[in-house]
Amino acid sequence: MIRLEGITKSYGDLCVLSDIDLTVHDHEIMTIVGPSGAGKTTLLQIAGTLDSPDHGTVSYDGMDITSLSDRRLSDFRNRHIGFIFQFHQLLPEFTAQENVALPMLIGGESKKRAMKRAAELLDDLGLSDRLRHKPGQLSGGERQRAAIARALINNPGVIFADEPTGSLDSRNRDDICDVITRLRRDLGQTFVIVTHDPSIASIADRVVDMADGRIVGIHTSEEAGSPKLPQEPDNSNSGDNPERTEKAI
Ligand SMILES: Nc1ncnc2c1ncn2[C@@H]1O[C@H](COP(=O)(O)OP(=O)(O)OP(=O)(O)O)[C@@H](O)[C@H]1O
Ligand SMILES: [Mg+2]
Repeated sequence: MIRLEGITKSYGDLCVLSDIDLTVHDHEIMTIVGPSGAGKTTLLQIAGTLDSPDHGTVSYDGMDITSLSDRRLSDFRNRHIGFIFQFHQLLPEFTAQENVALPMLIGGESKKRAMKRAAELLDDLGLSDRLRHKPGQLSGGERQRAAIARALINNPGVIFADEPTGSLDSRNRDDICDVITRLRRDLGQTFVIVTHDPSIASIADRVVDMADGRIVGIHTSEEAGSPKLPQEPDNSNSGDNPERTEKAI
């Protein structure tokens, strides 16, 4: 369970997040929606430990991560959290398989094991014959599936995604929704997804509505008229900050 309490964030005079309280339950698919500038990316990055709040606490299963040192925090992130961005953020000079293997290598695993696991995940996501392709040789949907495989390689409990289908056509968007639903069902992963895409909002258990740096409503999928999913085994600027992108990999 992830708990955000009393989160505030300002840039100079601009108050971007104002006293946010939010709990993300294990195995849930939560989406965060709202107009441009509402603070969605900022909230996602604070919840995902890529950014820190001015005030308030972020805790994972009762552990306050805002008090961890940088080194312990990056280790925690590598083990427990996966990130997917709108523009995939794969490294252009590496193959799909190497890109996916990277977080496992950073976590200290051998190259052999990391490459093997990367191949399995890419296979599972329908990319078994694209292992040696570089990102520039993949389609947009294939790149995004490779980015999902990279987010999954350390088997994180939670995945944060910022507009993961924002750069895709409708068929690829549906594929990504299917992948997310399947991962939650089979592996029990928790997803927190910022999106403008109604098809992703429709697979969510809860939809968090933001405006002007505040949460203005939380709706369950039943209220939204979508089918209920099982509770047990659920133009972004997220990629514009190279330091955060590097932390996320
Ligand atoms: N590093 C920064 N410095 C100054 N202002 C910032 C910074 N990052 C974000 N902001 C401002 O904070 C506000 C919220 O930004 P955020 O990226 O969280 O919005 P968003 O809801 O994700 O919007 P979008 O849907 O357009 O991606 C915006 O007004 C933005 O201009
Ligand atoms: Mg955004």
